[in-house]
Amino acid sequence: MPYGLIRFVLFRMDAEAAHEHTLAALERLQNTGLQRLWRQPRVQDPVTLAGLTLPNRVGLAAGLDKNARCIDALESMGFGFVEAGTVTPLAQPGNAKPRLFRLPAAQALINRMGFNNEGVAAFVAHVGASRFAEQRQSAAKGAPRMALGLNIGKNAATPMERAQDDYLACLAAVYPHADYVTVNISSPNTKNLRDLQADEALAALLAALKARQRELADAHGRHVPLFLKIAPDLDEAQVQSIAAALLEHGMDGVIATNTTLSRQAVQGLPHAQEAGGLSGAPVREASCRVIRQLRAALGAGFPIIGAGGILNGADAVAKIEAGADAVQLYTGLIYKGPALVAEAARAIRAHGAVKCAGRDRQA
Ligand code: FNR
Repeated sequence: MPYGLIRFVLFRMDAEAAHEHTLAALERLQNTGLQRLWRQPRVQDPVTLAGLTLPNRVGLAAGLDKNARCIDALESMGFGFVEAGTVTPLAQPGNAKPRLFRLPAAQALINRMGFNNEGVAAFVAHVGASRFAEQRQSAAKGAPRMALGLNIGKNAATPMERAQDDYLACLAAVYPHADYVTVNISSPNTKNLRDLQADEALAALLAALKARQRELADAHGRHVPLFLKIAPDLDEAQVQSIAAALLEHGMDGVIATNTTLSRQAVQGLPHAQEAGGLSGAPVREASCRVIRQLRAALGAGFPIIGAGGILNGADAVAKIEAGADAVQLYTGLIYKGPALVAEAARAIRAHGAVKCAGRDRQA
């Protein structure tokens, strides 16, 4: 079905209502014949990242499927990996509505959802009930399946001194169901959450998480990589100290970036002054800068996933050129629809082929 038509209808509705209707439809229709309404070919461009084999380098960023209800629908859009969450230990309603706004002139969204979710027990039950989880057990040989990332956070009511407890509880609950786990300390919509990116707080959190990861790996007989998701609103010194902490604690990867607090690129536009995180085209450059700084500080080989403002194939390639190994998108899916997934994956594959040809010529 042409996405332009669907978007025309959805964009006449309140942004969160449109989101809820879309997710409800995806949940109801996934794994039925009607899945063909949004199904896209999965571009094959396999890559190994943090020990995971991904069928292609384009993933869904966290926040769209907060309760892991639509994993099968999202897999059929052709993603190489899908990240569900952010989930918190207990269910919570999130911030008061309205809390999601479109800025079409800037191809952007502002959200202050505040980790609205059904809690980690419901979350893992939904993952377990997916066809993806069922088929993972009997994974057929051949083309690699997509990977499933599970993104964890803290409840708003948990004091910051106890934040670690929430992350550890979520890590233990999601671990057996995940191909990788993302530790989200960069949402601007949970009070003081981003303070966990600062030196001492970060060191303590990463040390505790890595110790628990080792215990869980022993218990489940499987190492599940741990990624840290960071904000774009960090200066170079802050990025460098985060990079040093990632290396020191042996983290498995980093996702850069979450949404931005900056409003520079959207000044004067309707909704620009709404509180929350800005995503889409206006965060693209800041995210690429953080990726470049991370790559310089982490060296080759450390897994970096780039997110922020991917609206077309060239934007996806720009993330790879900045130093990312793979990319994620969210806002682009709202503006461009599922065809963007294949467009981005094809562009990255073509870029890789050109680079290889260049190397062959030099050799
Ligand atoms: C998000 N994002 C997000 N990230 C995260 O780690 N946990 C979350 O729960 C959410 N929630 C969320 C809700 C909404 C409505 C949006 C638009 C975004 C951030 C998202 O995963 C991504 O990092 C940024 O949006 C930047 O990528 P895009 O959207 O520019 O492609």
